[in-house]
Amino acid sequence: MRVSKMLRLLGLALLLVGRQVPAWAEDEFERAPILYSQSTPENPISQLQDRLDRGEVAMEPVADLGYLPALLRALEVPVESQMLVFSKTSLQIQRISPRTPRALYFNDDVYIGFCQSGEVLEISAADPKLGTVFYTLDQERAEKPKFTRQVDNCLLCHSSSRTEAVPGHLVRSLFVDPGGQPIYSGGSRIVDHKTPLEDRWGGWYVTGRHGAQKHLGNLVIQGKEVPRQVENAQGQNLLQLDDRIRTQAYLSPHSDIVALMVLEHQALVHNRLTKANFVTRQALDYDAMMNRTLGNPEGKRLDSTNRRIQSAGDELVEALLLVGEAKLTAPIRGTSEFARVFAAGGTKDGQGRSLRDLDLERRLFKYPCSYLIMSKSFDGLPGEMKEYVWRRLWKILKGEDRSEKFAHLSDQDRQNILEILRATQPDLPAEWKP
Ligand code: HEC
Repeated sequence: MRVSKMLRLLGLALLLVGRQVPAWAEDEFERAPILYSQSTPENPISQLQDRLDRGEVAMEPVADLGYLPALLRALEVPVESQMLVFSKTSLQIQRISPRTPRALYFNDDVYIGFCQSGEVLEISAADPKLGTVFYTLDQERAEKPKFTRQVDNCLLCHSSSRTEAVPGHLVRSLFVDPGGQPIYSGGSRIVDHKTPLEDRWGGWYVTGRHGAQKHLGNLVIQGKEVPRQVENAQGQNLLQLDDRIRTQAYLSPHSDIVALMVLEHQALVHNRLTKANFVTRQALDYDAMMNRTLGNPEGKRLDSTNRRIQSAGDELVEALLLVGEAKLTAPIRGTSEFARVFAAGGTKDGQGRSLRDLDLERRLFKYPCSYLIMSKSFDGLPGEMKEYVWRRLWKILKGEDRSEKFAHLSDQDRQNILEILRATQPDLPAEWKP
């Protein structure tokens, strides 16, 4: 992208978060051993760039949508995952409003943002070494499309306490006015699978059925103040958006409720994976340095290192097993085919079960253990972290750990998850083998 354009976008972003000093200059992940900005990424976007450069794939822009359809196809991101967000909370704020929402799409390892008449597509990719890596793709036709890695201006918002202090994903819920401007006096929150439905989806369109459970989606606040009792009857169980937006301007008319719920789970797990990865490498690096300084034998583990691995590992295990997940009180049904497409991608065991099977009656998944345990990001964790996580999971699933935290997992749940993992996870530790 041209520098002038990027500066304009960056100026807007700075204005929006009210931050003058670039905080990323201080971040620990910019120092050894992570060297976030300096390291060469290796993820679906860098791989696609290689294939484009070698002429193995081509991407052609189309009217209005630019490179979006070609990019989704090249990365195998399902159109059914489309979600629409209308709060001016991200990069291209001048393009976003309740009449012209931003569209998001995702699969297990890439997320894509599109704005009508936007200058760029915004992309984040799960990178087994660098956690989340950000890119833009210029929407103007180019001889050879080129992804630009973005190491600073995206991190303005995508690296903070809201993303576990690592470069990561964001999902927010807040109140917006008819122009899409957030009304911060009404509060705002980060959303993941723990967030009660009644607090979710402020600033988002939501299509689907959810019975009597209430949420804040599809809601625009008239006036400057958020009323104490928010009235959103019009926003519930909405099945189409035709009277609110020009749906033809998008690849699909949906902002699917199931896609939203899966995204919120996935974003949390990805952030915890990044945190677990960085913390372990940083702690082991510190260990090695201390051992050299103190003349200790190589590989001696400091107590503080064990504690750091344990703490980041426990947080990851909790996210993987959906500890604290908000309970559903009525069935959830999306409007797009997302649920079907998502579940179809699962690796099944001998009984036809997979970690992608959705429940959507009482909870999100039938077998509450994240499918991201099968991802390259999980596989790319340092050995010390993987070992810790597998050991914890083993204790919990075998029923040796019966702490309150995991009480949402019945004996049957534990058994099911154990069996599915045994049948579908290729590299389990030895004691997992039946
Ligand atoms: C001003 C803050 C801000 C900046 C700057 C920003 N984002 Fe975001 N981004 C958000 C928020 C908030 C969300 C959650 C959805 C929403 O509110 O639009 C988000 C969501 C996303 C998503 C969807 C996946 C996810 O993490 O939830 C992608 C992809 C994304 N941003 C890419 C980028 C890229 C690439 C850049 C830099 C070129 C960037 N963003 C810069 C605030 C920002």
